[in-house]
Amino acid sequence: MAIDAVETPLHPPTRVLLAPGPSELDPEVLRAMTLPPLGYVDPAMLRIFDELKALLREAFQTTNEFAIALSGTGTAGMQAALCNTIEPGDAVVIGTMGYFGERLAMMAERLGAKVTRVDAPWGTPLDADRIRDTIRKVRPRVVGVVHGETSTGVVQDDIADIAAAAHEVDALLIADTVASLGGHPLDIDAASIDVCYSGSQKALGAPSGMAPLTLNERAMERVRKRKSPVSNFYLDIPALEKYWYQGQYHHTISAPLVYALRAALLVLHHEGCEQRWARHQRNFAAFRAGIEALGLTILAAPQHSLYTVAGVLLPDGVDAGDVRKALLDDFAIEVATGLGPFKPRMLRIGLMAYGSQVHFVLRLLAALEDVLRARGHVFEAGAGLAAAQARWQTP
Ligand SMILES: Cc1ncc(COP(=O)(O)O)c(C=O)c1O
Repeated sequence: MAIDAVETPLHPPTRVLLAPGPSELDPEVLRAMTLPPLGYVDPAMLRIFDELKALLREAFQTTNEFAIALSGTGTAGMQAALCNTIEPGDAVVIGTMGYFGERLAMMAERLGAKVTRVDAPWGTPLDADRIRDTIRKVRPRVVGVVHGETSTGVVQDDIADIAAAAHEVDALLIADTVASLGGHPLDIDAASIDVCYSGSQKALGAPSGMAPLTLNERAMERVRKRKSPVSNFYLDIPALEKYWYQGQYHHTISAPLVYALRAALLVLHHEGCEQRWARHQRNFAAFRAGIEALGLTILAAPQHSLYTVAGVLLPDGVDAGDVRKALLDDFAIEVATGLGPFKPRMLRIGLMAYGSQVHFVLRLLAALEDVLRARGHVFEAGAGLAAAQARWQTP
């Protein structure tokens, strides 16, 4: 493109972001990003770090001393969790129930670990007994699982059982909460999770670019006693600890992203975790009722369903890419298509943080009705909206 064709100023199109991230932003979060930047070791910035640590502990429901936000997206959280706890040749068990569990396994392999996978079919959670048997047999140093699998909308609710099995053999338990933290109930101390990471742009309600990360003392000790230094300098937890706790330069953190995450976590604090989980549950239930009234199915059964992300299976012959395009072009609503085996026949919807509101649910269902009717799907007009409203009005 010729530079003369670049528009000034930039006017990105207005969208309603209802994909599984990034999510809609609270106006407070948008405002925070316009505040003037600070230097990375300005005492005012170090004070904001302390505020963030306290706010992150609340979101994670932990008393862990170490709670920071990495400069990077959820994938940086995943990489940091693995590269700090794994040394080449270590035995590692990874539970996979979808795309992001598979990414965990692949990353651990690239770090030179001997990975044993325990797979669950996409759409169901892992069987805790099977993972326990594998842990007893393999006796790994590290076990990794995904709490909220975004590719299927499934939650692994019994992480505490998996953590107990890991601790029997003195392994660390890593949990991915990129798609769940701030929207689906989780108490990482009660579940005895040793290492937990997330991403800023989903149910926490900030833009992408920061990855919350917490380690308990057990995990910190393990990292401090490594035989070899962490090969990834950028994500080296001991160095990041010196930065976040002693103000020793490590990298130039983005002040606007820090402000935005702080604002998003304050919104969470003022709402309260319990209330926020209940809001996500209620709006998700309204959405499920609407989808089912249109004769469609959500892949995850209600008892295994995240409150944040839904995988909606489309009728035979209706292409997910085509529906996604129509929702974007005609209704300015962003959703995502499926991943892996579900790519052509699934829509992935995120109802997270500011985006988990009943008016977004109704707007999406109304648009979906229109798009599906135009593609020959038969249902009673208005059925989705009526069912969602009825469900939402039920306390
Ligand atoms: C469960 C899960 N883990 C990890 C990631 C990676 O996060 P990011 O895309 O922010 O790097 C995602 C992103 O969707 C996710 O849903």
